[in-house]
Amino acid sequence: MDAQQQSDSILPDSILIVDFGSQVTQLIARRVREAGVYSEIAPFGMAEAAFERMKPKGIILSGSPASVPDEGSPRAPQSFFEAGIPILGICYGQQVMSQQLGGEVRPGHETGEGGEFGRAYLTVTKDCALFDGLWKEGERHQVWMSHGDKVTQFAPGFEIVATSDGAPFAVIADEERQFYGTQFHPEVVHTPDGGKLLANFVHRVCGLTGDWSMAAYRDTKIREIREQVGDGKVICGLSGGVDSSVAAILIHEAIGDQLTCVFVDHGLLRLNEREQVETMFRDHYNIPLVVVDAEEQFMSGLAGVTDPEAKRKFIGKTFIDVFDAEAKKIGGADFLAQGTLYPDVIESVSFTGGPSVTIKSHHNVGGLPERMNMQLVEPLRELFKDEVRALGRELGLPDQFVGRHPFPGPGLAIRIPGEVTKERCDILRKADAIYLEEIRNAGLYDAIWQAFAVLLPVKTVGVMGDGRTYDSVCGLRAVTSTDGMTADVYPFDASFLTGCATRIVNEVQGVNRVVYDYTSKPPGTIEWE
Ligand code: XMP
Repeated sequence: MDAQQQSDSILPDSILIVDFGSQVTQLIARRVREAGVYSEIAPFGMAEAAFERMKPKGIILSGSPASVPDEGSPRAPQSFFEAGIPILGICYGQQVMSQQLGGEVRPGHETGEGGEFGRAYLTVTKDCALFDGLWKEGERHQVWMSHGDKVTQFAPGFEIVATSDGAPFAVIADEERQFYGTQFHPEVVHTPDGGKLLANFVHRVCGLTGDWSMAAYRDTKIREIREQVGDGKVICGLSGGVDSSVAAILIHEAIGDQLTCVFVDHGLLRLNEREQVETMFRDHYNIPLVVVDAEEQFMSGLAGVTDPEAKRKFIGKTFIDVFDAEAKKIGGADFLAQGTLYPDVIESVSFTGGPSVTIKSHHNVGGLPERMNMQLVEPLRELFKDEVRALGRELGLPDQFVGRHPFPGPGLAIRIPGEVTKERCDILRKADAIYLEEIRNAGLYDAIWQAFAVLLPVKTVGVMGDGRTYDSVCGLRAVTSTDGMTADVYPFDASFLTGCATRIVNEVQGVNRVVYDYTSKPPGTIEWE
């Protein structure tokens, strides 16, 4: 069996999602997985290759910012319509399927009716497999629409099964070929029954059992990693965060001591972070771990640096230098493991037929693979953050570790505006630990996306006991978010914040004033630099 055949045989029954560049394609994958079915997204230009590899049991065509009538707008591989498997087209996916099978799509401005954006109501005009056990003929249901163009003539074999004011072909079906098209978006939460409709498609139409789980994912990935790596050596940069930890533990399960983890202590870590990582990896998992004490190197380089970008650049470059040197010490490696997640992989798909994917690479060890001539091992590429957490639990990581708030690669340096010194890092570490302890004690940790303290380069006057103080200001920040792209301020009770402020000023020497950051993102960013 060659490598390609082997990988074919280990993939679970799956759904292929063809991405035409919609903002919400990732949500389709999510809903399908929530229905217990494995799915992968492929940009339309790579969909044929993905089809060959996955041998999916069904296909979903995504929405798109493109317009079907426009020249050069993307198409699905025509062969998909002859593959004999069910297809669901969503919004643009419905339109492109109609067009490719002989129907007609017209731009909103031509039909003179404009589009439909937001909440809409459709009426079910005929029962169909997609609605099985859910919607019945004659019922009205709320959905979420976002389209200008619309199908004005469906393709031979199709019929209308639901209609709305703005989209006469709100849902079309060709039950014989098992092709379905929805003008609305079932993947978004604003379509209340959307998840169930997608579950109907994968279970009832495609006939998949829905028994896929994180345990199955773990087994599949372990086999894939073994296959990719062979008897090569893998090196993994641990940040102490959830993603790189889960990747490392999974890879270790697959290839044991062929994996070496490197943890760079740049002196910009949170209180006891290094010890926690050492205990977890060495004692709990028995994973070979190299801990590099590079505090001096980082601190001396950061002396006198106050510009946020200059700090970030220095830290990124030095991190790579240190990691590279350690990798050479252990005789190099053939592969670099990274905890890259799905949202980092497909940022956007070009729908003009140009280079098809923009890959965002904002990882701590970015730049290393080329420099060290290593291939990447990225076992979390298909997962969302909360799925990584579920996988972490599956691998035995304690809840407390799995649920940790994100922590940026440049660490405390971007939470200390102005010059970063060891003394300032030590002050910040203490204040931050108190703040987080209070949050945990109040049972609020899991309700918050990220909470941390910052140390301002400002001194103010205070009074403690009978004496005057002249010390630093500590800022507290806590936000809720789903992906870090936008964020809301966490609305603590005033008494909670007062309690934190009192403890910090009393227990942390060097701080005599505490303020709370009430800025959402945008206009602020989550970190202060
Ligand atoms: P901002 O400050 O841009 O942060 O609103 C959004 C999210 O990204 C994290 N962040 C980083 N993570 N390296 C990282 O690994 C970085 O350089 C970096 N900068 C910001 C930040 O903590 C938040 O979760």
